[in-house]
Amino acid sequence: MAEKPPIGVIGAGWVGLVTATCFAELGHPVVVREIVQGKVDSLSRGELVMHEPGLQELLTKNLDHMTFTTDMGELLQRTRLMFVCVDTPPTYSGDADLSRVETVVQEVGDSNDHALIMKSTVPVGTGAAIRRRKHDLAYVSCPEFLKEGTAVEDFMHPDRVVIGADNGDWAGAAVEELYRPLGGEIVRTDIASAEMIKLASNAFLATKISFINEIANVCEEVGADVTEVARGMGLDNRIGPKFLAAGIGYGGSCFPKDVTALKQLAGNSGYHFQLLNAVIEVNELQKRRVIGKLKKHLGDNLVHKKIALLGLSFKPNTDDMREASSLVLSARLAGEGAEVTAYDPVAAERAGELLPGVEICDDPLTALSGADAAVVVTEWPQFKELDWNAVRDAMKTPLVIDGRNVLDAETLTAAGFAYEGVGRPSAGVPAEAFDAAPAAAG
Ligand code: UGA
Repeated sequence: MAEKPPIGVIGAGWVGLVTATCFAELGHPVVVREIVQGKVDSLSRGELVMHEPGLQELLTKNLDHMTFTTDMGELLQRTRLMFVCVDTPPTYSGDADLSRVETVVQEVGDSNDHALIMKSTVPVGTGAAIRRRKHDLAYVSCPEFLKEGTAVEDFMHPDRVVIGADNGDWAGAAVEELYRPLGGEIVRTDIASAEMIKLASNAFLATKISFINEIANVCEEVGADVTEVARGMGLDNRIGPKFLAAGIGYGGSCFPKDVTALKQLAGNSGYHFQLLNAVIEVNELQKRRVIGKLKKHLGDNLVHKKIALLGLSFKPNTDDMREASSLVLSARLAGEGAEVTAYDPVAAERAGELLPGVEICDDPLTALSGADAAVVVTEWPQFKELDWNAVRDAMKTPLVIDGRNVLDAETLTAAGFAYEGVGRPSAGVPAEAFDAAPAAAG
């Protein structure tokens, strides 16, 4: 069997490590260039620096043909195909910060022996601007569609692989060769369209979420159940069932950043992208609606009320806290004078640094002990399995706000809880829960 071409990866963040490890699993020698020496050291020992299901196993298995280095020269010498996986965080203006991409572009030179394959999410026009300066260096836009928590699975079984390259550029064909064994539909297109496919896909998914969240809010007013509505809508093939789970807003390192970046990109060209303004605003307000629900049950004064947050990461199966709804929610609760406790199965350490006023507990029952209310912030599957009778006995007031609609309302009501989901009729609110509230007000 012919030897597989070596792959270069620049940046050992989440996208870079998934890309590197999965290509290694497909049999490619992989060289990863990372500027932080500590990361290079631990990765060289086979130690992963983040939580992503299945990735540690693949790293351990393929470490013998993976090299981690701080030296760009080594990468240039050993590889032709170099995936750029550095971060492009938002700036104060909402534009993407391209300084790390810029540094890489300067470092890689301008030789047609090498191809820069852009995985980092960049504004439309970035590829063209790089091509204008680097006439020989081959350039491909190959945007990333992996989801945190299922990234390995997503890499190995892509819905589609988008490859944007100039006509006739050798690198477009080379990237197609790399991805063909994975079987997803290959979309060959120009560079600008590939860049736009990425931003438009994330913005569309975020729009879908804000849409169903608004439907949920209307359901609460008119007595419908958004989970039923989403089920009925999702069976229409044109709509589809995915990304119709109402909740307390989307977070993470991608949706908030990319929606703003697309809005900003349009604005920079003089176009006012009205729909995205609404998507962003709905998402912000959605996180705050929990406060109103707590007040409905506990009274307007939340001072010294103990609120237990179940889950802190922006979604399950990750310890990523970027733009997590828990950040806004805990700050709002602190602003109301509430005392906040929390439990998260994997994000506790990262969250500790970001939530200084929150008491982070080692197990859910400790967080819930003496609490006036529990709020499900992240839909970790273990919350479904909690012994809710024990939880009821441990809490001061049997009140659950299910911010992700993952708990079984009937089970909780049978156990004596007042239960509030998002866009679902409030289930069996027992009188004691209301009665207990004013008495407990301090
Ligand atoms: C997202 C995209 O789904 C990926 O395709 C893309 O590659 C990635 O951004 C990126 O640009 O790098 P990710 O941020 O990992 O992936 O997370 P998602 O699973 O998409 O969830 C994002 C947020 O939306 C989470 O806070 C989640 O709780 C929320 N969400 C998702 C909902 O509130 N409702 C839903 O129905 C689905």
